[in-house]
Amino acid sequence: MMTNASKVPAPSAAGMEAGTHQPAVARPVASRASRMALGAAIARATHQRHDWPRVFDDPYAFDMLYGHWRWVVASRFLDWLVLRKALKIMRPVYGQVVARSRFSEDALHAAIARGVRQYVIVGAGLDTFALRAGPAAAALRIFELDHAASQAMKRRLVARVGGAPSNVEYVAADLERESLSAVLARSGFDPAKPAFYSWLGTTYYLSEPAVLSTLQSIAANAAAGSEVVFDFCVPDASLGGRDREELAALKRFVARRGEPFVSSFLPAQLAAKVLPEGLEVIENASPDRLEQRYFSGRTDGFRPSRFAWVAHMRVRQRD
Ligand SMILES: C[S@@+](CC[C@H](N)C(=O)[O-])C[C@H]1O[C@@H](n2cnc3c(N)ncnc32)[C@H](O)[C@@H]1O
Repeated sequence: MMTNASKVPAPSAAGMEAGTHQPAVARPVASRASRMALGAAIARATHQRHDWPRVFDDPYAFDMLYGHWRWVVASRFLDWLVLRKALKIMRPVYGQVVARSRFSEDALHAAIARGVRQYVIVGAGLDTFALRAGPAAAALRIFELDHAASQAMKRRLVARVGGAPSNVEYVAADLERESLSAVLARSGFDPAKPAFYSWLGTTYYLSEPAVLSTLQSIAANAAAGSEVVFDFCVPDASLGGRDREELAALKRFVARRGEPFVSSFLPAQLAAKVLPEGLEVIENASPDRLEQRYFSGRTDGFRPSRFAWVAHMRVRQRD
């Protein structure tokens, strides 16, 4: 469904109670499609075409590429030259992208098996679940939330492969400016029914208040038993020398492209902050855990980056 919700409301001073909050750092609403969303699609597409075994299977990832990236990924030589030599700094990030998607969709399938029928993809970017997941996707109402400009690009790309299924609702959002529940209130989302939320590759670009407010919004408004999977960056100071350098180089890379990393969390501190709000941690997966689970036995050196963790949380039963 091409929906009802293409306008992001202007910022309000009313605060969270009214469903909006003020950004800690005033930033303009993105006026162009996210380059980092394209970067994540490149990660999945190069993995799909040129890595074996696959951590994550995404036959539509290539269809989400645009500009010269289709040429690069289509050619084994150019893919090697550009993505594995010139941009080798990105290889661990690509490992993180496929690991977090695999983690999240494994948890999503378990939720579907338990009867969950709503799937909210926060900061959806060029995620292709709705296109490729067949009967699993058909069983769901899918809500894709993103900045309007990124969403407009996604809709053009999805139209090239036949358009989105009718159970997909696109909802424009700026989580720096309004709460998740206010965004979902503009859609057909039913807060009384359990939902699965994925929120991948996005907390890095949001301020700490916006990240915490989004989690609070899930804790306060989603039905008990709802779950969220998201990834986040740990602080530089918590990393060893080489990992810290890898993160510093990546931060320079993304900042030069206009989408700087702005927040980081220590896993235990983040869990402690959201626990009183009504979220319990199912798992906080470290880079080591992700590597063990999804990359063991590989001989190509492909691994996830050392600075990103994946959290899996559940909304507790309310008294
Ligand atoms: C790196 S991409 C990740 C996309 C997708 N989840 C994936 O894993 O491929 C980050 C996404 O977050 C979105 N985003 C960044 N800031 C946002 C905000 N304030 N509100 C809503 N979406 C935002 C971007 O438009 C982009 O689609």
